[in-house]
Amino acid sequence: MSAPLQAVRGMNDILPAEACWWLDFEAIVRGWLARHGYRNIRMPLVEPTQLFRRAVGESTDIVEKEMYSWRDELNGEDLTLRPEATASCVRAAIEHHLLHDGPKRLWYAGPMYRHERPQKGRYRQFHQYGVEALGFAGPDADAELIVMCAALWDELGLGGIRLELNTIGSSLERMRYRAALIAHLERHADQLDADAKRRMHSNPLRVLDSKNPQVQAVVQSAPPLMEYLGDASLGHFAELKRLLAAAGVGYSISPRLVRGLDYYNLTVFEWVSDRLGAQGTVCGGGRYDGLFEQLGGKPAPAAGFAMGIERLIALMQEAGREPRDAPPDAYVVHQGEGAVQAALKIARELRCAGFAVIQHCGGGSFKSQMKRADASGAKLALIVGEDELKAGEVTVKPLREARAQARVPLARLAAEFPHLCKQRT
Ligand code: HAM
Repeated sequence: MSAPLQAVRGMNDILPAEACWWLDFEAIVRGWLARHGYRNIRMPLVEPTQLFRRAVGESTDIVEKEMYSWRDELNGEDLTLRPEATASCVRAAIEHHLLHDGPKRLWYAGPMYRHERPQKGRYRQFHQYGVEALGFAGPDADAELIVMCAALWDELGLGGIRLELNTIGSSLERMRYRAALIAHLERHADQLDADAKRRMHSNPLRVLDSKNPQVQAVVQSAPPLMEYLGDASLGHFAELKRLLAAAGVGYSISPRLVRGLDYYNLTVFEWVSDRLGAQGTVCGGGRYDGLFEQLGGKPAPAAGFAMGIERLIALMQEAGREPRDAPPDAYVVHQGEGAVQAALKIARELRCAGFAVIQHCGGGSFKSQMKRADASGAKLALIVGEDELKAGEVTVKPLREARAQARVPLARLAAEFPHLCKQRT
């Protein structure tokens, strides 16, 4: 016998006991998105490689090391499994002229792929909910995005997620900063790792993002980018801070927060929890006013964020929440000639009336069927045997409370079912 196959490393099955958390999370998030006026958009998982090269940036970790890319053998196209979806969302908005009648609030959800070293909270296939406010220029849109995150953490019952905020100004301002940063990095070149040395001249801002503690020490003493920003950038940031304060959302300024993608300008932010170990960032985003133009579209301002579903669900579990894994209302047990037809009819009728009903399949003794009924978590077993069939009735047996079973005429079952279900204490 050959060995059973296993899932690809870093790409996880989400089994039913875990998936009920996901459903719970998704129900809350979708309600929250609808209440904020965001509309769903769905993009392909596969995009031209060039999209991410142009949008995320050639000298980012994602593009340099983490993309699942290949050449399509049939037509020679270079393709990539999306490592993130802001680029796809903007590509779709340009391709379909989504902003022709004004700005758009959009959300998407789904798997993203990054060839990172898997560890707790870091996977090669992971899932995001992403929110993009396209066509909005002001700090009010940045504030809306951040305040809505804070509202979601409350709704999910998650405390202790802190907001780290920064502004990285315009590309022109970053160009001015570049020289000062390179000079600083050159002075400390002996403490930089190979990555930092390589990026020091091509994209020195990426060095600020290094996870290597030794490089971080050099970064700590670098001149702050904030000092190179002009009035417009500082004004945008000041207004955002005022709006957050007015909304009661606390934050700390992280002068070295630059994010790992090159498309950002002005506002950048991350929401971080200390309860998840090394992978504590549950959400990240910012403004990306240059991306439309960079991808060949008409210039349009935009901002957004994406949150990591795995990490937020881990937090929900850690917070001791119970998932709402609703058990079925009834499990239909049947035995004898003609009983299966009656059982099918009962189950169908009750489902049409809005109840969750499992119909026993696969035969077996009455005892073994009752065992299954019990294991299903159903409130009631509905028993259709030969006696019941003859009498045109069904036996209703409560499974979760010490209440006597009762016979109910089939014709009255649907009408009486709400009452029978409610008798639970
Ligand atoms: P990002 O910071 O790369 O941003 O990812 C957003 C979130 O996805 C992270 O904060 C984290 O929770 C989760 N995440 C990222 N990588 C992994 C991984 N390997 N395993 C598990 N979770 C992960 C973006 O993707 C931008 N597109 C966000 C954005 C939207 N900016 C503007 N609009």
